[in-house]
Amino acid sequence: MQFNVNHSAFDAIDTDALVIFLFDDEDAASLTALSGTHTALFNSLKDQNLLASKVGQVTPLIGHADLPASQVLLIGAGSRAKLSENNFIKVIKATLKALKQAKVSSASLALDDLIPAKRSVAWSVEKATELMLTGLYQYDTTKSKKADSNKLERLDYLVAEQNLDTAIRTGRALAHGMNVARELGNLPANICNPDYLVEQANNLADAYDEISVEVLGQKEMEALGMGSFLAVTQGSANPPYVIVMKYNGGKSDEKPHVLVGKGLTFDAGGISIKPAAGMEDMKYDMLGAASVFGTLNTLAELKPALNVIGVICAAENMCSGTATRPGDVVTSMSGKTIEVINTDAEGRLVLCDALTYVDRFEPASVVDIATLTGAVIVGLGHHPTAVYANNEELQQQLVSAGQASWDRGWPMPLWEEYNEELESPFADLRNIGAGRAAGSITAAAFLSEFTRDYNWAHLDIAGTGWTTAKEGATGRPVGMLTRYLLDRLS
Ligand code: BES
Ligand code: MN
Ligand code: ZN
Repeated sequence: MQFNVNHSAFDAIDTDALVIFLFDDEDAASLTALSGTHTALFNSLKDQNLLASKVGQVTPLIGHADLPASQVLLIGAGSRAKLSENNFIKVIKATLKALKQAKVSSASLALDDLIPAKRSVAWSVEKATELMLTGLYQYDTTKSKKADSNKLERLDYLVAEQNLDTAIRTGRALAHGMNVARELGNLPANICNPDYLVEQANNLADAYDEISVEVLGQKEMEALGMGSFLAVTQGSANPPYVIVMKYNGGKSDEKPHVLVGKGLTFDAGGISIKPAAGMEDMKYDMLGAASVFGTLNTLAELKPALNVIGVICAAENMCSGTATRPGDVVTSMSGKTIEVINTDAEGRLVLCDALTYVDRFEPASVVDIATLTGAVIVGLGHHPTAVYANNEELQQQLVSAGQASWDRGWPMPLWEEYNEELESPFADLRNIGAGRAAGSITAAAFLSEFTRDYNWAHLDIAGTGWTTAKEGATGRPVGMLTRYLLDRLS
């Protein structure tokens, strides 16, 4: 799809659909650009209470014959003075829905009117572009009847500002990355298994010169002593991998930022098997990995001067005669021994070895992304990603990146009191806390035992990576991660 910036007045815009936003706290300023007859028509509709200015309401304007646009759509946007980011998003989503229904191939949006109170025109153009392209994604890979193909080919933003190429380019690359993450997440586990993730990594490296890939198989993992990771996968017929993808955009001596993604393509819980209800959702247990793929895809399109390494822990957690038992003690790559109390707390067991492994990259920062705990959903719901870090500045950088990209996170504590709950009489650590309390925090505390040598953050995305079966994977936190990395450009 093509995006443009257009500075023309309404009566000079030839488009299938002209979209004008209506506010309830003033006469739509945009309409002043209409001819006198339209202002009169607008006022008459308004007097009859026929103009719907509630957020997302759509009114087709009839009688606009002297405007070159084939259709004029008025879309409610609520209060202009208090236009929030969330309302902006609702309005753009309603706009896309109306454009899809109208089956138009081009549209022009009076976006200059729709700038959230605390945001710039560039932010709005970037966000609208992202929302349009993510809104056009529809999962149909495993349906025999494919989704209707997209008719919308061209979108113009009617704004006075000129330099919006970066905003459009960023919004587009972000949407592509988010859609990559969503597709990987939505695919079922019988297709998207560890081997499939390896294939995707190779495809990414083939598509972009800046990306190279290296895959560690079971043998290499054994040689490295990844006993914790391998304990998770030994019950599965599908072999595990550590996939290392390098995006080289910066100088060769520049320290890399490392992203480590939990890629459990299915999590049955192992011998501590999960209840049947909702178990199908555990195909989403690779969304951390999916967000790493998505972010690298976005970077490969934007080509910032950064070095970023994405590490995927690709594995399956199954129950079988060869599966790890509760009570088994395993030795992690770090040398620390772990008593596996609950085989369903497997994410931390694969991540701890990957986190030990990445020390060799002498990272500027390490961020792991994982659908790690159900407890984070109890605590924070589906709105913010939980942000943990062993470095306050890094935690703040991630929270700020979330605020800027409106893919928000919330800071969580890492206190030694939580680590004390991980003591075991039989090993250096146990893999779950003593009780159910603070389950997301004790999981993060477990990881903190393996990340003392570098700046590290952990994002628990169990509540934000996907929400409901209907919505599926959200593409989060590609927005936060991309913003965080772009902010590191000096
Ligand atoms: N993958 C799950 C976490 C999860 C739960 C993600 C619900 C998305 C939705 C993780 O491996 C897990 O099973 N965690 C356990 C930990 C417990 C055994 C301490 C949990 O949260 O119940
Ligand atoms: Mn689990
Ligand atoms: Zn899991």
